[in-house]
Amino acid sequence: MTSITTYAPGRAELLGNHTDYNEGYVLAIAVDRGTTLTGQARTDRRIRIHSRELGKTEIVALDQLAAERVSPWSRYTLGVVDQFRRNDLHVEGFEIEVTSNLPLGAGLSSSASLENATVLFLSQAFGIKLEPLQMARLAQKAEHDFVGVRCGLLDQISSLMSRDQHATFIDCRSFDVQHVPLDGRVSVIIANSGVKHALVAGEYNERRSDCEVAARALGVPFLRDATTEMLKSRKNDLADRIYRRALHIVGENERVLAGSEALRHGDVTRFGELMYASHESSQANFENSCAELDQLVETARKTPGVYGARLSGGGFGGATINLVEKGREKEVVKALTSTLPNVSCLVTEAADGALACAKKH
Ligand code: GLA
Repeated sequence: MTSITTYAPGRAELLGNHTDYNEGYVLAIAVDRGTTLTGQARTDRRIRIHSRELGKTEIVALDQLAAERVSPWSRYTLGVVDQFRRNDLHVEGFEIEVTSNLPLGAGLSSSASLENATVLFLSQAFGIKLEPLQMARLAQKAEHDFVGVRCGLLDQISSLMSRDQHATFIDCRSFDVQHVPLDGRVSVIIANSGVKHALVAGEYNERRSDCEVAARALGVPFLRDATTEMLKSRKNDLADRIYRRALHIVGENERVLAGSEALRHGDVTRFGELMYASHESSQANFENSCAELDQLVETARKTPGVYGARLSGGGFGGATINLVEKGREKEVVKALTSTLPNVSCLVTEAADGALACAKKH
């Protein structure tokens, strides 16, 4: 059997927090690290996954896939296999080795990178042609059904479709994807707080439900359809928590639109201000920050060379993203790592997504 290798990077959310499942807007990049799968098809309808980093192996029969029967780390892969089968995309057994140079649980979506690498592996191994959006949806649905997180499509799309030197703008209603040039003078630093984020534990799904309650109360299909003005005029009709959740989403959508305009004009200073405003809204309105992330953003504010910083991804731990003047990465990393004992930093350029990487190799 021919050996196949696929790769998908992690992603970082530049601006637009929890907007994706509200059919809003988001700006993200792919990072220059990710998950690699190497393996081949098997003829005995069995699946064997070995994770080099975890030192663990999972063996399961193709016809007996169920989330509760398999260990949590293998659900990202097996959830994708399950989605292929549910969508009548014919797969057989296979064996793969998973290797990754992405820190797990650091807000870089190691999960989407593993899911996407699996989608690519299965489509190559079994000769299935898929459109990029279809790939992203299979990966997302795997996470809904096998992992239990009702995530949007930000992670899967940006890990697949990003381009180097560009931010990926996603309209999460039309799924129009645009590549906005990132000013060549900036670097991105991801500061992992060391606090494990608890997406799987339910906070994420609770936020999503709050947003749905807010949209219903406002009489709009999704919060994408609300404006700050409309929201403010209806403040008294909404419970305080629901109002603040909606304020965050509506504000984030406005910030993403303003942010992509700023990037198109090369105005990174303005973009940085929007990042700080996003973080403040996470703190006050969406309540998905934590003391450690707040401290990292405070440090960023005081450190020369940083344009902006905010929490990136689901929140409740994980990482901050810092937009930094090129050439000043070292001093910024030093300031961020001295903020708290368990902080680790990763300096990245805006990198190619999985599809662009596959084309180049
Ligand atoms: C996680 C989810 C995404 C998105 C972000 C928050 O990364 O997987 O779909 O909702 O959180 O913006």
